[in-house]
Amino acid sequence: MNARSLLADAEARLAEAGVASPRVDAEMLLSHVTGVPRSLLLVAARPNDLQHRSYTELVEARARRVPLQHLTGSAAFRFVDLEVGPGVFVPRPETEVLTGWAVEQALLFSAQGPEPLSGGENPVVVDLCTGSGAIALSIIHEVPRAQVHAVELDEVAYGWAQRNLSGTGVDLRLGDAADAFADLDGRADVVVSNPPYIPLDAWESVAPEVRDHDPELALWSGDDGLDAMRMIEATAWRLLKPGGVVGVEHADVQGESAPEVFGLRWADIADHPDLAGRPRFVTARKAR
Ligand SMILES: C[S@@+](CC[C@H](N)C(=O)[O-])C[C@H]1O[C@@H](n2cnc3c(N)ncnc32)[C@H](O)[C@@H]1O
Repeated sequence: MNARSLLADAEARLAEAGVASPRVDAEMLLSHVTGVPRSLLLVAARPNDLQHRSYTELVEARARRVPLQHLTGSAAFRFVDLEVGPGVFVPRPETEVLTGWAVEQALLFSAQGPEPLSGGENPVVVDLCTGSGAIALSIIHEVPRAQVHAVELDEVAYGWAQRNLSGTGVDLRLGDAADAFADLDGRADVVVSNPPYIPLDAWESVAPEVRDHDPELALWSGDDGLDAMRMIEATAWRLLKPGGVVGVEHADVQGESAPEVFGLRWADIADHPDLAGRPRFVTARKAR
């Protein structure tokens, strides 16, 4: 069977299974199996028998709603690729916007541009709840002079972060963000986090890829989904210098309730939309 027919069959199978982007996923999987770039599949892919069998198995797994990134083993995030698989949250496009904000803040704190200095004046950035390490890896990639610290509670997710952050200079620790980095108290310029934030009663509305394959610890956060937000607020207050900033992702229904968590003692509280225009992350500054 040629690539065109394989793709047409796979697209139909994935559409029938309710996959949101059946053609793209069919192409990504065929590209993964054959090693041919997506844009060249129709002209250059000639799957052999083994590749054909692998492709059929992967399409069936995707039809069972195994996340595409678990099947290909990697997730693209801003300018980096991360290794992902069972036991770690797959980084999402909406978090790229929050990460872009953190990159801009780190550059503002460094004031002299993105190149590493020989010493001193490097912005201190902390990524709480790092998962695969997506935010921390992007920041060290885009602001190499930053001192980046990251923490993850779950041991399996921590293993993925170790692989992704190995050799980058990021200070990765296994532990609870609630009491992490006592050695950095009052020293951070930027604290950033994409914590768990789905309210417990939203189970029904969550897609099977998320519900059945992202780790529970990555998703749920108490009745209103804001338990982790309250914890991050307290940790950020402890870690930041006066004048330092925090940015935290939240659910689209938390555009008012998430900023309220920062209402009492923070300055410059603002909420920001994701690429689809939905409320997505809150930022605030620790008053000087
Ligand atoms: C929504 S995922 C986000 C992962 C990553 N930051 C990203 O954007 O792809 C939340 C992560 O927080 C971790 N986590 C949950 N509670 C934590 C805690 N108290 N301390 C540290 N990590 C925690 C989970 O294990 C999970 O990896």
